[in-house]
Amino acid sequence: MQTPYYLIDKSCLLRNLEKISWLREASGVKCLLALKCFATWSVFDFMAEHMDGSTSSSLYEVRLGREKFPGETHAYSVAYADHEIAQVLAYSDKIIFNSIGQLAKFNDASQGHVRGLRVNPGVSTSEFDLADPARPFSRLGEHDPAKIAAVADQISGLMFHNNCENDSFARFDEMLTLIEDRFGAIIHKMAWISLGGGIHFTGADYPLENLALRLKEFSQKFGVQVYLEPGEAAITGAATLEVTVLDTMHNGKNLAIVDSSIEAHLLDLLIYREPAKIAPNTGAHEWMICGKSCLAGDIFGEFLFDAPLKAGDRLSFQDTAGYTMVKKNWFNGVKMPSIAIRELDGTTRLVRDFDYDDFAAALS
Ligand SMILES: Cc1ncc(COP(=O)(O)O)c(C=O)c1O
Repeated sequence: MQTPYYLIDKSCLLRNLEKISWLREASGVKCLLALKCFATWSVFDFMAEHMDGSTSSSLYEVRLGREKFPGETHAYSVAYADHEIAQVLAYSDKIIFNSIGQLAKFNDASQGHVRGLRVNPGVSTSEFDLADPARPFSRLGEHDPAKIAAVADQISGLMFHNNCENDSFARFDEMLTLIEDRFGAIIHKMAWISLGGGIHFTGADYPLENLALRLKEFSQKFGVQVYLEPGEAAITGAATLEVTVLDTMHNGKNLAIVDSSIEAHLLDLLIYREPAKIAPNTGAHEWMICGKSCLAGDIFGEFLFDAPLKAGDRLSFQDTAGYTMVKKNWFNGVKMPSIAIRELDGTTRLVRDFDYDDFAAALS
């Protein structure tokens, strides 16, 4: 198969999905895939065997969820436009408004639909200002309990999303207690609560049993159906980006240029200034792996290898499913990676290729 391509490995995906299934069973929570993180729909049927549906951040995502992901379809957006609302309602089972203003604006249009409101508890676990929903002056959800209480009779659920790559159960527990203390009276009036995504409960050492107990206790205390919206936790470790070295140079360091681009194919890493991952990253030869776009800083990172790299060598970037394929772009006209799936029996099939026509069609 010609590189570059993203390779989704179903057996790695299954490891996460089995943990999700266990959590659902043990705690009664429903788990919805957050399409903003991963929207590669060729594996949605497979994922849906272990999940309850999907959640979205726009009209197009909610439509994709309805059309491709079996189960419940939640709609959320930071703001809906007038011309979007009828379709959003048609494609969704529940709509979650980001503000009391949007709830009021679309009150008539959404009568009879299951409605919720996003609440911002003012705390989060994000280490990055850019991704912190609780950053100062945040627009992500309503924060004032009195104002939320005043519209509680118009909604049946609340959505909190304040965990970000949180692998600490203790911190999750602490923040949930804070939510209970601050918003408990309103939660008692609700039928369902979504606790959003960002909980790294599929990680190797995560105390899944403690999480299950805590969620079950929360659900029973308030008499609510609890939802989680895992993105990253559902797909972590499930895909690689396969590339080939095209050229090597030396300029104080060993440089290898590959047939991909961090700017175009792993953009999230560039935004958060994180290196890509290569395994095992051991050996005596250190190389800087660079993208083929003209951006000077199009650099995947510096890694160790057993032997010097040369044109034609194949490399594999690890853990490239989340916030990557959804953000790929046509910068520099670099060939967009194809998408391949490794089945449970080990066979690999190509599910999507992109060519010049796709590049030209992205603009006009
Ligand atoms: C509302 C909401 N739900 C779910 C998610 C998924 O988060 P993660 O991929 O970290 O699990 C996000 C991520 O930004 C989000 O904003």
